[in-house]
Amino acid sequence: MDEERRIVAAEEITADGTVVFTAKGGFETTEGILTRLDDGSIVAYTNYCPHWRDVRLDKGSSALVRNGEIVCGKHGATFAKNSGTCDFGPCEGAVLDTFEVTVADGAVYLTDDEWDSAEPGLSEELDLSSGSRIDF
Ligand code: FES
Repeated sequence: MDEERRIVAAEEITADGTVVFTAKGGFETTEGILTRLDDGSIVAYTNYCPHWRDVRLDKGSSALVRNGEIVCGKHGATFAKNSGTCDFGPCEGAVLDTFEVTVADGAVYLTDDEWDSAEPGLSEELDLSSGSRIDF
């Protein structure tokens, strides 16, 4: 596996929380979150709420995960962990974008062709506080 794509040790990913990471590809930078499903597998979604895309789900110390759902702290939208689908809240029906990740040698790797590298933590480049808001 390409070490540039290594995010974290797999054992750090739990079912009751998320771990945020930053992905880079070309001139693009974005953030994702990792969480563990009940079957033990690990999934990755975008870290941005589809309701207001400048709102992070995980601000650096885990998103709120409750009853198998990721909760947006802004207006309380809930997203099913196993599908990323919003089943309650202002963006009901929206689906979180996914990243392809692979577990190998005890670590989680970003194996999504759209991105070249990944590292744990929030992006220092993405200051969302002054960004324009896309609302619906
Ligand atoms: S910003 Fe997430 S529910 Fe409104």
